[in-house]
Amino acid sequence: MNVIVIGSGAREHALCRLISKSYLCDQLYCFPGNYGISRIATCRNISDIEVIIEECKSIKPDLVVIGPENYLSENLAGKLRELGLNVFGPNELGARLESSKEFMKKFCKNHDIPTAKSESFNNIEDAKNYLDLNDRPIVVKYDGLAAGKGVFVCNNKQEAINACEKIFIQKVFNQNENTIIIEECLEGKEISYFTITDGKDFMNFGSAQDYKRIGEGDTGPNTGGMGTVSPAPILDKNLEDKIIDEIVQKTINGLQKDMIDFQGVIFFGIMVDKFNQPYLLEYNTRFGDPEIQSISMRLKSDFLQLIHATSTKNLSFANLEFYQNKKAICLILASKGYPENYPKDTHIKNLNEFENSENFYIFHAATRIQNNQILANGGRVLSIVSLKETYAECRDEIFEVAEKIDWEFKYYRKDIGANY
Ligand code: AMP
Ligand code: GLY
Repeated sequence: MNVIVIGSGAREHALCRLISKSYLCDQLYCFPGNYGISRIATCRNISDIEVIIEECKSIKPDLVVIGPENYLSENLAGKLRELGLNVFGPNELGARLESSKEFMKKFCKNHDIPTAKSESFNNIEDAKNYLDLNDRPIVVKYDGLAAGKGVFVCNNKQEAINACEKIFIQKVFNQNENTIIIEECLEGKEISYFTITDGKDFMNFGSAQDYKRIGEGDTGPNTGGMGTVSPAPILDKNLEDKIIDEIVQKTINGLQKDMIDFQGVIFFGIMVDKFNQPYLLEYNTRFGDPEIQSISMRLKSDFLQLIHATSTKNLSFANLEFYQNKKAICLILASKGYPENYPKDTHIKNLNEFENSENFYIFHAATRIQNNQILANGGRVLSIVSLKETYAECRDEIFEVAEKIDWEFKYYRKDIGANY
């Protein structure tokens, strides 16, 4: 099979690794990819949607896998399907589960899926009137895609008003017409849960715990994720059964009832309260980054066969198996200063000393090569992943490597996977 992966992050590197090791894979392309990905796939510096479509027309791949959410919300999947191509990733309508919080909330209400109670507003006066009656911890969410920056968890009314002003008055998301959701603040532990569906059947694709804050002990600003542990340590059989019954199955049924045809992955962001009850915080309609970096190392069965079967609506014929007794931890190495300002094009000196294997891998998110030097050119740069029998063994390996990587501007959290 000839396969094209769209995207340029460590998530796409992890997807490319799984696809390239499949016996079904002949040619693997990644657009635009990055230096790390270029070692296992043919990368082309293409990111414009129309150019991607032209390139797909000429390559005629057996499968296109779309990594990032922005392409999905711009209906790249739908446009490629109109050309008769097999695609892993939903059309624009399915992608709305992620790209519009208002749509997600209505979907949950219509299909009885447990989530935080919410109201939506399209002007600041109504939002403020509502907040006047609700001076308690509360969450303000911008309706559209905002690269993880559209959610404001507020301790009181004033913080919530500030968030509304950012959206409606300062227009930080550059929209003329803004919609927000204000919802109750849930407390508990978060997990990321993944389900693959071809629109008829579904298979659960593992779990992870993401460390979202920049600082140790979950302090400081939110980031795209500073590390993951897979499987999620708090997920036991009882909780997983509840997640499947109350959230996953109802979502799949809801998609069918609403006639939203969906071939791809649904990533459920879930809060588990002190009574072990799961509530849906958000849907994503793509793999999580850095969740997939750790989950993918635990996969035993053939990934390409699975996603190709998904894209052709033959999921019931596919096989999905994980290494039951193995754990994986992913540690992100970021440029010092991320998620605010950080230097660009800093030199990572000894990266090629570390050999990738079935149990250890360094995925690249933002690297490029110049005069034989590997340069970091983004915020989150490397994902170091270890697969072992225990979380403690994973930790020993990733931190030893993180320490040895000779890069003056590296930053990482030292508590990823601690206490497990
Ligand atoms: P979202 O993009 O909706 O997942 O929100 C990003 C992060 O904000 C989540 O991972 C949570 O940490 C937090 N969050 C979102 N909604 C709520 C809520 N209702 N209560 C508490 N925290 C929330
Ligand atoms: N790790 C969270 C995300 O991919 O959205």
